[in-house]
Amino acid sequence: MPNPSPALLTLSGIGKTYVEPVLSDVSLEIHPGQILALTGENGAGKSTLSKIVCGLVQPTTGAMLLDGQPYQPRSRSEAEQLGIRMVMQELNLIPTLSIAENLFLNQLPQRFGWIDKPRLAALAQTQMTAVGLSGIDPWTPVGELGVGHQQMVEIARNLIGSCRLLVLDEPTAMLTSREVELLFAQIARLQSEGVAIVYISHRLEELKQVADRIAVLRDGKLVCDDAIAGYNSEALVQLMVGRAAEAELDLGHREIGAPLLRVRKLGRGDVVAPASFDLHTGEILGVAGLIGSGRTELLRLIFGADRADQGEVFIGDQTQAADIRSPKHAVAAGIAMITEDRKSQGLLLPQSIAVNATLARLGDVSRMGVLDSDAETDVAQDYIRRLRIRSRDGAQAAGELSGGNQQKVVIARWLYRDCPIMLFDEPTRGIDIGAKFDIYKLLADLSRQGKGLLIVSSDLRELMLICDRIAVMSAGKLVDTFTRGQWSQETILAAAFRGYLNAPSSAPVAQQAA
Ligand SMILES: Nc1ncnc2c1ncn2[C@@H]1O[C@H](COP(=O)(O)OP(=O)(O)OP(=O)(O)O)[C@@H](O)[C@H]1O
Ligand SMILES: [Mg+2]
Repeated sequence: MPNPSPALLTLSGIGKTYVEPVLSDVSLEIHPGQILALTGENGAGKSTLSKIVCGLVQPTTGAMLLDGQPYQPRSRSEAEQLGIRMVMQELNLIPTLSIAENLFLNQLPQRFGWIDKPRLAALAQTQMTAVGLSGIDPWTPVGELGVGHQQMVEIARNLIGSCRLLVLDEPTAMLTSREVELLFAQIARLQSEGVAIVYISHRLEELKQVADRIAVLRDGKLVCDDAIAGYNSEALVQLMVGRAAEAELDLGHREIGAPLLRVRKLGRGDVVAPASFDLHTGEILGVAGLIGSGRTELLRLIFGADRADQGEVFIGDQTQAADIRSPKHAVAAGIAMITEDRKSQGLLLPQSIAVNATLARLGDVSRMGVLDSDAETDVAQDYIRRLRIRSRDGAQAAGELSGGNQQKVVIARWLYRDCPIMLFDEPTRGIDIGAKFDIYKLLADLSRQGKGLLIVSSDLRELMLICDRIAVMSAGKLVDTFTRGQWSQETILAAAFRGYLNAPSSAPVAQQAA
């Protein structure tokens, strides 16, 4: 679509070099009221480019114009004063402060030198309603919210004040479809007010829904800048990775053996109704269900992160139930859990990839108590290769990696810890399509080694690709289990909705495939 209005922001020849170049010669124009989708593989440079636009990072080469005038923001607040704002991929909220305080941190309403609390609460309430957080007390500490709600607070914070360009860096990675809809409504409102939006996501279906234009970065270079209408997901993948996407996966020959984990009537309040199932050696068992159906909660009960108020878990052929009262007990019993939230996984950002990957088993990379950094490097190098962690080498700080690559380091750490039973919660969230297949191959490897894998995912195609069986949770109940060959997308979805049939008003909206 030709855009008659003059450009709001013009980038010409933007480049960034840390030790090596991560962006080169990016030229783009962004017009008022335009929504530009930006995509590319993990580490392609999307966040770096956004940070340059929003004043958090200084470019090495190139120049920017805002309304035709030179634009060189030296800090985030300088950019914000000019109406250029960004919702970052990693949340920047202060967990101990309330929602209201986080929203208005820089502009707390004052009365006689005191914070005007009633006014603050009212202002916060208005912003919260706009993003669908109306049911929540504005004085709730942000740290007590789930990651999805935290993300909405972060978004609401950036909708305050004057905004001419809003960059959203993977805003929907943690959101349910209802929250996604609310976000899209906000985006449409901003667009109608002439705000320009840069929308970064790995969910390719989403891009078409929201954007008019598409830009693709590959290895720091702009390989596409065009109207989005002519591109389907396959074409985008081709542009992102420079080759066609894989559609088939060979899981190799696997032996599914005896039960490795027996879960018996494990439940907690009205969150998880008593659930019983077996996970076998060499098996990949998926858990499907809508957001809020109790999938993550079930994993947390098995892992001891929450206390079950009934039921038991048995390891292998033991007749005595495992004594799992905390994650520490679970790990000792041979159970690992890889959650979707990098921050809670305690990635040490200033430390190297090697340290982060081997943290869980320092004993194996030390000799007589002294850390053997060669051994550590070998281990890291192996995972960097297998997971294609985009980095200089194992010595690079985890904090310097792109978001998706940090997620891979978290996965590497647990792979290295080598537990026989592995629980995964949304293992490929925030990971680009090519890298997803690397992770699937690793999961297949693990199952060939005889490990039992229990995988929660909102991406049904993903589960159907990698699982031997898929259990379906609905309204807190494990309602059905399907075996490979006996399932279809329709039967699984029907099961996912079954638990809500008697109480239709409580049914959450179906989660969109990632
Ligand atoms: N402070 C830094 N020092 C060195 N290298 C960095 C630094 N910040 C980013 N990089 C590198 O720049 C490259 C681009 O990272 P960026 O975060 O922009 O990727 P991305 O496209 O946002 O990826 P993702 O999809 O995983 O979020 C990566 O290889 C990353 O390791
Ligand atoms: Mg990023």
